[in-house]
Amino acid sequence: MKRLLALIAAALMMAPTVCHADEGMWIPMLLGRNQAAMQKAGMHITAQDIYDINKASLKDAVLLFGGGCTGEFVSDEGLVLTNHHCGYSYIVKHSTVEHDYLTNGFWAMTREQEIPCPGLTVTRLVYMQDVTKEVLDGVTEGMSEGDRETIIENNIKAVSAKATEGTHYKAVIKPFYYGNQYFMYVNEVFTDVRLVGAPPSNIGKFGGDTDNWMWPRHTGDFSMFRVYVDGSNKPAAYSKDNVPYRPLKHLEISLKGVDEGDFTFVFGYPGTTRRYVTHDYVDLAANQENPVRIALRTIRLDHYNAAMRQSAAQRLKYASRVAGIANGWKKWQGESLGIERLHGVEQKMAQEEQFRQWAKDKPQYRDVLDSMEANYAQLREVSLEWTYFNEAVMASDFMQRAYRLFRIQRNSDTALVTSMRADSEKYFEDFDQHSPVDEAIFVETFLYMWEHGYAPYMNLKHSTDAEVEATLHKVYAKSILNNPKKLEKVLSMKREKMIHAIGTDPAVQIFSQAYNYCYGGDKRQRHSTANDNIQRLMRTYIKGMMEQYPDSNFFPDANLTLRVAYGHVEGFKPKDATYYTAYSTIDGIMEKENPDVYDYRVEPRLKELWQKKDYGHYATKKGELPVAFIATNHTTGGNSGSPVLNADGQLVGINFDRCWEGTMSDLLFDPAYCRNISLDIRYCLFIIDKYAGARHLVDEMTLVEQ
Ligand code: ARG
Ligand code: GLU
Repeated sequence: MKRLLALIAAALMMAPTVCHADEGMWIPMLLGRNQAAMQKAGMHITAQDIYDINKASLKDAVLLFGGGCTGEFVSDEGLVLTNHHCGYSYIVKHSTVEHDYLTNGFWAMTREQEIPCPGLTVTRLVYMQDVTKEVLDGVTEGMSEGDRETIIENNIKAVSAKATEGTHYKAVIKPFYYGNQYFMYVNEVFTDVRLVGAPPSNIGKFGGDTDNWMWPRHTGDFSMFRVYVDGSNKPAAYSKDNVPYRPLKHLEISLKGVDEGDFTFVFGYPGTTRRYVTHDYVDLAANQENPVRIALRTIRLDHYNAAMRQSAAQRLKYASRVAGIANGWKKWQGESLGIERLHGVEQKMAQEEQFRQWAKDKPQYRDVLDSMEANYAQLREVSLEWTYFNEAVMASDFMQRAYRLFRIQRNSDTALVTSMRADSEKYFEDFDQHSPVDEAIFVETFLYMWEHGYAPYMNLKHSTDAEVEATLHKVYAKSILNNPKKLEKVLSMKREKMIHAIGTDPAVQIFSQAYNYCYGGDKRQRHSTANDNIQRLMRTYIKGMMEQYPDSNFFPDANLTLRVAYGHVEGFKPKDATYYTAYSTIDGIMEKENPDVYDYRVEPRLKELWQKKDYGHYATKKGELPVAFIATNHTTGGNSGSPVLNADGQLVGINFDRCWEGTMSDLLFDPAYCRNISLDIRYCLFIIDKYAGARHLVDEMTLVEQ
């Protein structure tokens, strides 16, 4: 207790009652409130240059790329820049053994060579509007949450319909501050987007998962697309008659670059942050859920990585799933460490204590934190089951396929059977009936659950690990899921017979038990009730905090809407006796080169250019070729591909990551450690121009030398 009090006292001293300088993701429409601070920090332009509805402004050049990245227009012919990892799945989709664009890169030398990407959209914000009054119209203080939701839902439908009537626009309305405020986004969605260029993987993904989330970084993480429209410059489905879009605004590109201390801002679509949650959430994430997720993903990664080292074919097979698994795995480790370093739980408790004091005589706020704790106590009882279900039960292809049989069993839609049959055929082509990697993942993840008391249904209390393991292997061997002939036979049976056969399959049986254990009984209900209550209480809590600190500017948590974050180019000290400077150069690529390690193979032509120091006007004054830089801008997932702009609003970089030591910034921001990582635009141009010889693309852009 003494130690806890001491920690709370220490945390209280560091606890920011207001947000830190540099912290925050601000709403473009309300940027006027930040203008003075931004100008004081070094910005030369105005809030209106960034967001204006009366004339073209920077916001017209910034796009939601697909459903979770950002992109930006860099020419008056609809040319878009984003990250390589944002364009990844499209680059993969168009790659074949003969034309392996993923490995070798792709550059359209003519417009005809640009490749359509069906399904890919980019979205431009036309204007946004505060619609709180309209959305909350009819909502009263004492009404039930259910009634409140119904009214809000209906209002949202009506307001969006009215706003887009007679236009080709689409409206989205989102809650801010847990539903204290609502904004409407009226968007223009472009549906003909074509791949224009991508560097080879050993440039666009140089460093791979080894360097992911890390500084110093040397990844040329960019790709290029172009937006096509109909003859009247409006979005249209793909047609060969479509023409390049003429944007209202495209970004100017500065060749001056940035130096330590320079002002920058990031303009894009951050996905999710949870800045205002209470200590329970932080504890749950950092101390309960993250360790389980990390342990279970380690099992998967070990097996996949070993397989990938064995052959090029296996590397291709697992590359993109490993990228996804490893990304969260590494981020959560950094996040938990960061929370521990900051005494995040105690820091939150200290803030809550201040709130309790302040709220003592305010009936509307007095009990909110007690109720919050009570609901978190409920949530804790069932929350790890969700983690186990997602990270263990569903970890293997085997169980994911068992889940499909389970759904067929419960749902009479014949489409499920048809698609399972088709996919199984493909699956067996790929895996030759038996995948030792997948079997090991299935066995080890279930064993882990069992050892940690999360698989009591296995009813093997007195068994040894070895016995459980043997049982799991047996399940794997006996299931129809690993026998193409038997599976096909079952899936072609009449429904009743099929259901019976599925019901006797050991894989489906163990899956059903796991499913019922994790979600069955009233567990699902308890989980969602606690969560709904917490959301509702957060609405009150944050409203209270805003009254408690009326002079602070509370930024709303990220929710995949357009935001501005600003800060400075700045190095940091990640650990004792180590200082990271703010930018990396091509020399670092050559230092990392290791032909034996896939992630560190250097593209030969890049090496040639480096040897000749053939950097053109992309070099710094010192003659170095910069690759990436770090800054104090507050960003999160979704900000990938975001333009990083200088004091004059010119493009100097493309955001693509955060530094590992600062990944707790979704929950807690620490200016000493939180840094976003951006690709230096000069390296991007150098690759397009000098490396790829696609000069025509650079010529389309507006470069500013000084
Ligand atoms: N960490 C970056 C982000 O969160 C990049 C992820 C893609 N790169 C990778 N090596 N997996 O999305
Ligand atoms: N790579 C992340 C993305 O895809 C950005 C890194 C972050 O989480 O800040 O959005």
